Amino acid sequence: MDILVVGGHGKIALRLLRLLAARGHHARGLIRKPEQAAELQTVGAVPVLGDLEAEPSLETHVKGADAVVFAAGAGPGSGPERKQTVDLGGAVKLTDAAVALGVRRYLMISSIGADRARSATGAMRPYLQAKAEADRYLMASGLDYTILRPGMLTDDPGTGRVRLSTELGGRAPVPRDDVAAVLAEMVEAPNTIGVVAELFTGDTPVPEAVRALEPPGPR
Ligand SMILES: NC(=O)c1ccc[n+]([C@@H]2O[C@H](COP(=O)([O-])OP(=O)(O)OC[C@H]3O[C@@H](n4cnc5c(N)ncnc54)[C@H](OP(=O)(O)O)[C@@H]3O)[C@@H](O)[C@H]2O)c1
Repeated sequence: MDILVVGGHGKIALRLLRLLAARGHHARGLIRKPEQAAELQTVGAVPVLGDLEAEPSLETHVKGADAVVFAAGAGPGSGPERKQTVDLGGAVKLTDAAVALGVRRYLMISSIGADRARSATGAMRPYLQAKAEADRYLMASGLDYTILRPGMLTDDPGTGRVRLSTELGGRAPVPRDDVAAVLAEMVEAPNTIGVVAELFTGDTPVPEAVRALEPPGPR
């Protein structure tokens, strides 16, 4: 498959691109800084230059993809404005481009707490509101989406074992390695279409946890 990972130099994205390339996919990563290209090539991915905020449409980059992954983020040091332009605006632009080009498969890295953004406080509130709105937009798009809501991300080595559940409201950490492993599995798993799931470190091997997800009833 040709898979475009947006936010291609992100910590999860680089791990995911490496896994996708190793599985024989044509793994492309959208980056806005040319100096990041070499690192993508090192993991076996193809760098694509583009800016989620500056460009009005992402269609030129999405063209030719079989699936897209939204792995970008404004980051913890950014203010509410960039939550709107990256976490919400970037995800919406990617949805619009996928719809326009008929690229049906869309994997979203969302966040725990997006289902209860209104009760969040401080800097988390605009972040979770942006994530929640981006998720709703994708869910209403008619695309074959999977929304993954990881808990607090860590750079600990992955264990390959997770807790993946459509029951929302959990709170626990998860290594970025394991988030990437789950996404690499999900992209090829039709049973995850239409699923919104939380992800934490856990006891179940990643392929088994992904296989166990139940697709929802008729939408
Ligand atoms: N931190 C947590 O505990 C947590 C929990 C749940 C979910 N999440 C979500 O998980 C996702 C991935 O996390 P991560 O740690 O892998 O992220 P990360 O390392 O911060 O990567 C985010 C990437 O987005 C890119 N980006 C920002 N603005 C852009 C733009 N205008 N155009 C193109 N790319 C742009 C950044 O590129 P530059 O290098 O150019 O800035 C960066 O490579 C994010 O959506 C985050 O919100 C985080």
